Amino acid sequence: MNRFFVSTPLGFEERTLLEMKEVWPYLLGKDAKTHVLPFPEVAVLQGGLEFETDFFAALQLNFFLKTANRVLLRMASFKTRDLPKFYQKFKSLPWREYLSHGHVEWEVAAQKSRLNNEKRLQESAEKALTEIFGAAQVIEPCASIYIRMEDDLCTISLDSTGEHLHKRGWSILKGEAPLRETIAAYLLHEMIAEATPSEVAQVTLLDPMMGSGTFLSEARALRSGQFMRPYAFQKWKKTPKLFLSPSFAFNYEMPTETVFKKFIGFDLEGEMIPAAEKNFTEVERQLALVQKDGFKAAVKEYRVQDALQGDSCAESPLWMVVNPPYGERLPEALKGGLTGLAKVLCGRYKPNKVGILYPEKERLSPVPEGYQLLKELKINNGGLRCLFTILTRL
Ligand SMILES: C[S@@+](CC[C@H](N)C(=O)[O-])C[C@H]1O[C@@H](n2cnc3c(N)ncnc32)[C@H](O)[C@@H]1O
Repeated sequence: MNRFFVSTPLGFEERTLLEMKEVWPYLLGKDAKTHVLPFPEVAVLQGGLEFETDFFAALQLNFFLKTANRVLLRMASFKTRDLPKFYQKFKSLPWREYLSHGHVEWEVAAQKSRLNNEKRLQESAEKALTEIFGAAQVIEPCASIYIRMEDDLCTISLDSTGEHLHKRGWSILKGEAPLRETIAAYLLHEMIAEATPSEVAQVTLLDPMMGSGTFLSEARALRSGQFMRPYAFQKWKKTPKLFLSPSFAFNYEMPTETVFKKFIGFDLEGEMIPAAEKNFTEVERQLALVQKDGFKAAVKEYRVQDALQGDSCAESPLWMVVNPPYGERLPEALKGGLTGLAKVLCGRYKPNKVGILYPEKERLSPVPEGYQLLKELKINNGGLRCLFTILTRL
């Protein structure tokens, strides 16, 4: 058993916990068969989830948690106000089980502690690794070590993820102001939350201002793993070899049906259509490699269209998710800003459910006629305080 911390964007913790509960029954044991491990007791903290569980199971969370930032292995947690004690403790940790040499990346943060000099903490930890492994002769770091010092409590972790989990490895092209994949997945989960999977399976999802199509690609990839990108734990000496087998991902017995029935995307800019298509196609290419015979290509329709004019959609039930341009980028012809935009989009497409992401200061009020507010979520979208408002048709 090891202790792990799944870090999440602030406010996503409970949703990530639900996601973890959803994927847990499908994780594999070391015999490559679906495991029967009980779900761990999870402490929900600000910015993440902490729990103790099997090493092999926890590493697999990297493949499946779409709303998380990264998965850290807790190496130690202890109180100290003294650098020699920190050094001794750091050096005593079982680094040889994980690292192939002593050249690593460092993430050090210290506050409200006697040992608050981050540079000295890092130097001390580097010295310990040099004593264990000798002077590193390599250029490529073999891991990332996180050291956090807060209120004299030192937490040392090893990052199992590598590149941030929002880097799915399938978004090839990006438009202007693309949405971070972890946020898109979170918002989609929030839209789905009140419906059963069989209800959602009947729904056509429309993004009438899709840009590079992050919402639609994420919606296609919900409840599936991302196996084609590298993970930091794959370099660890202790990592079970099974993970490195090219056929490893075939062993998961997850449902392969698409979560939504159909995907429709519009954008005003012609060049966004092939970009969004490429991203969606790459998601499906990766899913097909893993799902093999179970894979079925989704029905999708992407086209250049002014969302405020042109054809409406005949599909029903229809859900609309949209991340419109903000502020002065809103279409000039539109009266009433964001509220006006919501009114036009709801009037034109008459979606049964709407999720709209916009800056908090633009506030969508009143909601379009014929709609009621289901929920409103605060989102930090790349430093901009936003709201995600979910409406349902009366
Ligand atoms: C904030 S971006 C969307 C980003 C997208 N969520 C992503 O992750 O790439 C807004 C998009 O709306 C498009 N747009 C602006 N006005 C539009 C209109 N009237 N009809 C359709 N698309 C429009 C822009 O071209 C831009 O791609």
